[in-house]
Amino acid sequence: MPMQNRRELMKMAAAMGATLAWPAPVRAADAGVEDRSAYPQGVASGDPTCDSILLWTRRPPTAGRKASRLTVEVAETSDFDNMVVSGSHAIDADGDWTCRILVTGLHSDRTYWYRFRDEHGRLSRTGRTFTAPSPDAEREACFAFVSCQNVNMGYATTFLRMIAEDRARPAHEQLRFVLHLGDFIYEMLFYPEDLPGGMLQGRPMRGHVRMPEGEKIGVYHVPRGVDDYRAIYRAYLEDPDIQDARARWPFICVWDNHEFSNRGWQSVAVYDRARAAQRLRVAANQAWFEYVPARVSQPGEADPMRFRAPAVADVPLAGPIRDSAAREPNNQRAIHSLRIYRDVRWGALLHLLLTDTRSFRTQPVYEADFAAPFRRGMPPYFAPQKVVEILDAGKSFAGGNPPAEIVHGGMAIPNPAARMEAGTMLGEEQKRWFLDRLRGSTARWKFWGNSVAMTDIRADVGNLPASMATSAKLDGFAITNTHDWGGYPTERAEILGAARAAGVSNFVSLAGDRHAFCAGTVSASLCPGEFAPVAAEFVVGSIGTPTLAEAAAHAVPDDHPLRPLYLQGDDAAPAINMTVTHGVAASLQLAEDGDRSAALALRNPDVAPHLAFADMAGHGFATVRVTASAIDVEFICVPAPITDADPDPLYRVTHRVAAWAPGERPGVERLVADGPALAARFLDLDPTGREQSTSN
Ligand SMILES: [Fe+2]
Repeated sequence: MPMQNRRELMKMAAAMGATLAWPAPVRAADAGVEDRSAYPQGVASGDPTCDSILLWTRRPPTAGRKASRLTVEVAETSDFDNMVVSGSHAIDADGDWTCRILVTGLHSDRTYWYRFRDEHGRLSRTGRTFTAPSPDAEREACFAFVSCQNVNMGYATTFLRMIAEDRARPAHEQLRFVLHLGDFIYEMLFYPEDLPGGMLQGRPMRGHVRMPEGEKIGVYHVPRGVDDYRAIYRAYLEDPDIQDARARWPFICVWDNHEFSNRGWQSVAVYDRARAAQRLRVAANQAWFEYVPARVSQPGEADPMRFRAPAVADVPLAGPIRDSAAREPNNQRAIHSLRIYRDVRWGALLHLLLTDTRSFRTQPVYEADFAAPFRRGMPPYFAPQKVVEILDAGKSFAGGNPPAEIVHGGMAIPNPAARMEAGTMLGEEQKRWFLDRLRGSTARWKFWGNSVAMTDIRADVGNLPASMATSAKLDGFAITNTHDWGGYPTERAEILGAARAAGVSNFVSLAGDRHAFCAGTVSASLCPGEFAPVAAEFVVGSIGTPTLAEAAAHAVPDDHPLRPLYLQGDDAAPAINMTVTHGVAASLQLAEDGDRSAALALRNPDVAPHLAFADMAGHGFATVRVTASAIDVEFICVPAPITDADPDPLYRVTHRVAAWAPGERPGVERLVADGPALAARFLDLDPTGREQSTSN
C-alpha cells in the first residue's frame, strides 16, 4: 500500500475514533484461549463498505488481569487458518476500555471472521461480518431493520428469532446487515423496588440495568453523566441475544431519543420539566461513540483513541423555541460534538441515507407551552392535525399568511406561532446534505434510515358522535404522531417536494420509534388536502418496548367513553388498528356487536388512503429483500418479550413495492399475510376494507 494512501486512511480512521489495520503478510494465528468473560460485551462490526469494516470490542480489567493493547485478527475462514489482516489498538480507562479498529483493504462482497487478542493470549468470541458489493455490482441484497430494544422492561428475543430464521435460510438469502434505527438503550430506568409489585404496564421490571449514580424523578431514574450512560450500554450488551446478533451481522446504527433523553431535543432533556442539558448531551454522545461502531466523526482534529468531549455549561435556551435559542453556544458545541448523519452504499441497488432526527430538531410544537390551549379536550394520544400544521408552519403558513386565530374545540384562539419560524426536524445543514445525497444518488433504491416515521397515524375525530365527544367540539382529523414527522409537516412537505421536483423515484423511508408496524406511502398532505405520494415507508415494531396498545390498556380506563377506539373486548384487542385505518365510526360500530361487515360498511376511506398496514400492538423485526425490479418487506411480529424463550411469530406479512419511474406514484402491495393474530388484531382487512385471506 502506498504510504500516501496509508496516511490518508489513517486520517480517515482517526476521524472516526479508530486505529487502522490493513492487509499484510500475517503468520498463522498463535494458540490462544477464548475467554468470553474477559470481553463481557462481546464483539461487533459496523458500517461495512466494499473494502473496509469497523470492528469493536471492550476488554475491561478482569480478575486482576489488565490489558492495555488489543490485536484484531481477521480471516476468510472461521478457523483463522487464512488470516488476512492484523492490527492493534491501545485501550484504557478513558475510553472505558472500548476498542475501535478500522480494517481496510478487504475484498468486496465477502464474509470475514474476526476476533480480538490481548497481550495475555486471551481471545474474544469470534464475530462474523460482511463487506458490501462494489458500487457497480448489481447484487440482490437482504437486510433487517429494527428499533427500540428494552432489556429493562423485557428481553431482546426478537434477535433470537431473527438468528434462528437466518440460519434456516439458504446462504444466498441470508441477511447481510442489520439497520438499527435507534433506542438502542433506554435511559429511563424503572427499578422494580420503586413500583407496586415491581410491575409497569403489566410487565415485571427486570431491574438488572442499573446506573452507578443517576437521578430519581418520580418512579424512574435517569443518567447524570457519562458513567451512567456507559453502565446502561454495558448492561444492554451483556444481553445474550443482542450480543449474538452483533457478532453475527454488521450493524448500521443511528440514534433516536432514548440514547439521550426521553422527550429530548437538541440539548434539552425533558422529564418532569424541560432542563438545559448540554453536559448530558455530550455525555450521551460520548457513550454512543464508545459503544456503537459507526463511521461518525467529531469536528476538528481527531484523536484515534477517544471521544474529545467539548467543555459546555448547562445554559437554558431562552427566547423563542425556533431560532435564536438553538444558537446558544453551549447548545451548538453539544449538538455538534458528534456527527452521525452519513450514508452507506451497498452495491448498485442500495444507497442508505442515515439521519439524526433529534440533535437539530426544534421542540415538538404540540408540546410547547403555547400549545396548551390546543391540547384541551383531545382523546388520549391524539392531536388536532390542522392545528399542528398551523403551529408548525408558523409565519410561513399558507404562503406567508398565517391565521390570526385558530379555531379549536369551537373556540377561536389567537395563533401563538404567527410570527415564528417553521419547525425543523433535520436542521438546515443536515437537510442540505440529505437532499444533495438523495438527488445525486445513482443507486437503484434510495433508503432513508429515518429513525422517526413520516406516515401519519390518524383518526377522523370530527365524526365522533356528540354523545361521545370529549369536552371540546372536535373537527377534522387528529394524529397520534406529533413527535415524529407528523409534528413537522412543513419540513416533511419541503423534503417530499424537493424529491419530486428532482425526479427522485424508488425512495423508501425505513423508520422505527413508533413501536408499531406500518406500511404505506408518504404524501405531503392527506384529505382534506391532496393525496400525492412521493415515497414508500415501512415502520418496524419495537424489539421489546411496550406498544401504544399496551400503554392504553393502563392509561385509558375501562369506563372511558372512547375506550372502544383503542381496545375492545375481554382480551383488550387493539381496536386502535381499526380506528386509524377505517375511522372512528367503524370502531364504534364494531364495539356494538363485533360484526365486522357492519363495521366496515361505516368505514371512512379518507382516514388512511396512505396506509397499507398498521399494527399499533406489534413487536418484532422486519427484513428487506432488494432486487432491481422490486423490494419485498416482511414484518415478523412476535409476542411481547416477557420471557427469554424463542418467540413463535404471531404473524408474518410481506408487502412489495415495485420500482417506479420518475413522475409515477409509488404503490405498496400486500403479498403475504399469514398468522393467527391478524384477525384478532383487525389486520386481515386490506386498506380498502375488504377481508383478506389470512394465508397466501
Ligand atoms: Fe422507542
